Amino acid sequence: MYDLRDTLQGTAEAILKKKYGSSTTVHFQVSLEDGHGDLTTSVALQLAKKVGSTPRDVAQVLVDGLKSVKGITNIAIAGPGFVNVTLDPESLISGIKTARKACVPMRKRKAQPVVIDYSAPNIAKPLGIHHILSTIIGQSNANMYRHLGYEVVSVNHIGDWGTQFGKLAVAQKKWGKKDVSEQTIDELLALYVRFHEELDKDKSLEDEGRLAFKKLEEGDEELRTFWKTVITITMKSMENLYERLDVHFDFTHGESFYEDKMKSILEEGNEKGVFKRGEEGALIVEFPEESKLPPAIVIKKDGATNYLTRDLATARYRIDTWNPQEILYVVDIAQQLHFKQLFATLGQLGWKLPHLEHIIFGRMSFADKSMSTRKGNILRLEEVLDEAVKRASAIIEERGEKIQTDDPKALAEMMGVGSVVYGVLSQNRKMDMVFDWDKMLSFEGNSAPYLQYTYARAKSVLRKAGSEGADVVVESLTEKERKLLKQVLLFSEMVEAARREHLPHTLAHYLYELCQAFNSFYATDDIASAAGATRDFRLALTSLTAEVLKTGANILTLRVPERM
Ligand code: ARG
Repeated sequence: MYDLRDTLQGTAEAILKKKYGSSTTVHFQVSLEDGHGDLTTSVALQLAKKVGSTPRDVAQVLVDGLKSVKGITNIAIAGPGFVNVTLDPESLISGIKTARKACVPMRKRKAQPVVIDYSAPNIAKPLGIHHILSTIIGQSNANMYRHLGYEVVSVNHIGDWGTQFGKLAVAQKKWGKKDVSEQTIDELLALYVRFHEELDKDKSLEDEGRLAFKKLEEGDEELRTFWKTVITITMKSMENLYERLDVHFDFTHGESFYEDKMKSILEEGNEKGVFKRGEEGALIVEFPEESKLPPAIVIKKDGATNYLTRDLATARYRIDTWNPQEILYVVDIAQQLHFKQLFATLGQLGWKLPHLEHIIFGRMSFADKSMSTRKGNILRLEEVLDEAVKRASAIIEERGEKIQTDDPKALAEMMGVGSVVYGVLSQNRKMDMVFDWDKMLSFEGNSAPYLQYTYARAKSVLRKAGSEGADVVVESLTEKERKLLKQVLLFSEMVEAARREHLPHTLAHYLYELCQAFNSFYATDDIASAAGATRDFRLALTSLTAEVLKTGANILTLRVPERM
């Protein structure tokens, strides 16, 4: 199909050039709607005005010129001037080989890498449910790039520096356990909360905290040891969660990593006149009037650096170390101003910059009110995952014989965690997201269990048939076969589109539609009980569907079971 499409596009371009004298790019899209053929183009609608003709007349020129191309069985004008082409089975089926290749990560091309900055929690606190957004939106983007052959450097830019560690150290001394390393992440959080409660009564604590941080910055041994222990405790508490979510980083470079890398940038900014003395002695950057950005501080009036200073040094380090073509920051929309100021400051410094982009996401809330109004203000990610697994477990039990598995516990984990992950990634990240347990765990809708179940169903067909089929050409295709085949052939384009826009939900939606196409094929067309070439072809189509589903799901960090 891909070759034929190239031929059609090339021929159409030549026809239009000859007839109208102007060069146009023609794109034939795979069409999935009934009655629209297999490939369709709207080029006549775009071109008509420019060449002083009507869309239908331009379309007619294309129809006349293309109808003799080998491999097509029908070509027709539809509606205001679309050209729809129907392909013969052989041409469509010939795409299977390419589609199968699209399930294997592409060979790494020689190009500059893409740096992706995601998850990046602040330490000394457990991961909250909201952390899942940056974490898996970031990971799925990294997976898409990698699948398409890009070199990716994934970085966890943890928040491990700043006055809060001075405060924590003060709290530790006053109310913590003697042996710091014996403390759990929850106890650390409790210390931090207690510090702020006591601060209401005793304002002097604020200065004590600041002083402690200053001492930490100056290299005080005891404080350094304390701080390092806190990092260790935090990282340990996150390890298991990252594992459950299939999230991996090439580097964990926290903000503290840039402690000694800011000085040279401050000097450079001063020399170039980018940083100026603001009120009360702070060092600031100002932006041009038309940018409407308020000035940003790079050195506070007490001489301390801040989040922005560290991000400037971070960018410099990444450029020097990896020479990337892009740096993506997958961070809450609440930090939009920060990133605008960061990018603008980097521009003023006059460096040669890669493409920089802030990948935003909206807020998440639960339809189940008891989840959003939990005591305290932090709903832990672990709690939510555990709750999902518990619910999945109940569903497995309730379904009894209808679910086949040798390991209900592993399946519940896969379904539960998957439903939360898919609950995020199936929604447009740019919008606020609502979580609904019933929808997330449903076997019918656009959910992880539906996808997982469809995959297991395809695998079970293949197991029972004892064959993966063969790539044979059948003489005709049923409507369901044709639709499913076109759907699988779209896979690589869908991954590419989702990567380009950094929108994993478009890939999720594609997988959902693929499941629907497979299930409707499964419901009417015999697979293992068919005979001859039909059987071989249908089994091959089933196995390719399974392969695409698994590959796509894994890109979205979702695991799928062989049996369910
Ligand atoms: N730690 C920050 C936070 O929790 C996010 C860091 C994002 N990355 C960056 N390079 N600024 O808000």
